[in-house]
Amino acid sequence: MVNKIHFGKRIAALRRTKGLSQVELAEKLGVTSQAVSKWECGNAVPDIDLLLDLSHLYHVTINKMLEDVDLLYELTESQTGSSDIAYFVSEEDPNLEWANEIIHGGWIRRNWEHAQYENFYRDAVGKQIALCDGVILEIGAGPGGGFMPYVLKANPDAVIIISDLSPTVVREWKSFLDRTLASPNLYYSAFDFCNMPFKDNCIDIISDGGGIGNCIGEKTNALKEAYRVLKPGGKLITSTGFVNKETLASLPSETQKILLNKRPDIFEDLYEDTVLAGFSKIDSVISGSWYTDNDDSEIADLARSLGINLKFTSYTRYCMKE
Ligand SMILES: C[S@@+](CC[C@H](N)C(=O)[O-])C[C@H]1O[C@@H](n2cnc3c(N)ncnc32)[C@H](O)[C@@H]1O
Repeated sequence: MVNKIHFGKRIAALRRTKGLSQVELAEKLGVTSQAVSKWECGNAVPDIDLLLDLSHLYHVTINKMLEDVDLLYELTESQTGSSDIAYFVSEEDPNLEWANEIIHGGWIRRNWEHAQYENFYRDAVGKQIALCDGVILEIGAGPGGGFMPYVLKANPDAVIIISDLSPTVVREWKSFLDRTLASPNLYYSAFDFCNMPFKDNCIDIISDGGGIGNCIGEKTNALKEAYRVLKPGGKLITSTGFVNKETLASLPSETQKILLNKRPDIFEDLYEDTVLAGFSKIDSVISGSWYTDNDDSEIADLARSLGINLKFTSYTRYCMKE
């Protein structure tokens, strides 16, 4: 069955790429601008002659305008079920407490709204990712959505697979974005990014706003998997933070020992692992810093128990698969 809303969004995006207004398109087709508006809002579908005219004007087939593509089936070759979310993990969340907080605390809506304010750094990264006209994979999207809200801000027509290990995170984003954007170009999947369900060489950009940095599993496997699924020329854009050597050296020696023993991961900047995963061209940009005193993470609790306010340096890394 044709999803009229998706059809409307697709032809509106095609019109925008041609730089036409609704009125200009209506004039070209010999219809009223109200008719164009009805198609684009999903209230009506043009008749067959007009579909043919649109197909010639936009240089796309009628099928491409009308049909929803099962992108996740194409990229994974697995049947993804009928729920519009491709699950490669259990549909039940292992962390029910966190899942309930996300649902009942309205985290998704709040984070989306927060992302609509100007944020120099995230907006800049989002714009760069949005330049991609292929498939963007947002991994470990989490309740913040990683870079996805900023990519959609720059280009509401971007093709993005929104994913997380938590099925609740994925369901909540789907339910929110279906209501907010109803884009035909958004796909949803729950999987472990240390063992991705995708074929080799099929993704254009992997976007990671703090997922790998908070990895449940081996970060090195996540980097290797990112390399495997990216197309040659594809990029992993990954952002996280770590505690640098200078900060470590400034702490009392007993505190250093405890931290190195309990959380060695927070001192890793993952550069070597990124090279070992296969990425040859890597640009790192330091984007700022944050302190643990206002945080409610495990590491912040540990820092408080040690009586310190720990400084993290945040960076974004652009890693190319050649
Ligand atoms: C603490 S969040 C922070 C980053 C997140 N992008 C955001 O903006 O909210 C980290 C997210 O990574 C996800 N994650 C951790 N390990 C993962 C894995 N192995 N596979 C997929 N997602 C993972 C978690 O479920 C969580 O939603």
